[in-house]
Amino acid sequence: SERTLVLVKPDGVERGLVGEVISRIERKGLKLVALDLRTVDRQVAEEHYAEHAEKPFFGSLVEFITTGKVVAAIVEGPRAISAFRQLAGGTDPVEKAAPGSLRGDYGLEVQYNLVHGSDSPESAEREIKLWFPEG
Ligand code: GTP
Ligand code: MG
Repeated sequence: SERTLVLVKPDGVERGLVGEVISRIERKGLKLVALDLRTVDRQVAEEHYAEHAEKPFFGSLVEFITTGKVVAAIVEGPRAISAFRQLAGGTDPVEKAAPGSLRGDYGLEVQYNLVHGSDSPESAEREIKLWFPEG
């Protein structure tokens, strides 16, 4: 069994899609082991997206993620990292995310793609520590 860090980003929270995201996680058979609605400070957002620090969209990404409430969750199950990435769909909601995925069903723009899921065991460990430092 494996753990992954899932975020419902501010667009998902504002649009009332938290229940939909959680519902799909649960229907898949994955388990929620932590769940929290919160605002993110700039430091955590920059740390979370550190791998994108040199990208042209980094500023607007950090700005966006800190402007509204997010839901942070730890999700657990067999191959949870890959399983949630499949539920989320590709980064670009129109050209990469398949219909039937969260982004494919609900997204239109790359920046407003509803959810985040860790992309590797190393990322998951780092992100879980960052978002849930209390353990
Ligand atoms: P996350 O689960 O959020 O990390 O998405 P991802 O792993 O599918 O994509 P990636 O890590 O490459 O990019 C992180 C986030 O940056 C994406 O989810 C998008 O919100 C945003 N992003 C990626 N590429 C672009 C881009 O070209 N333009 C803009 N505006 N945002 C982008
Ligand atoms: Mg990523």
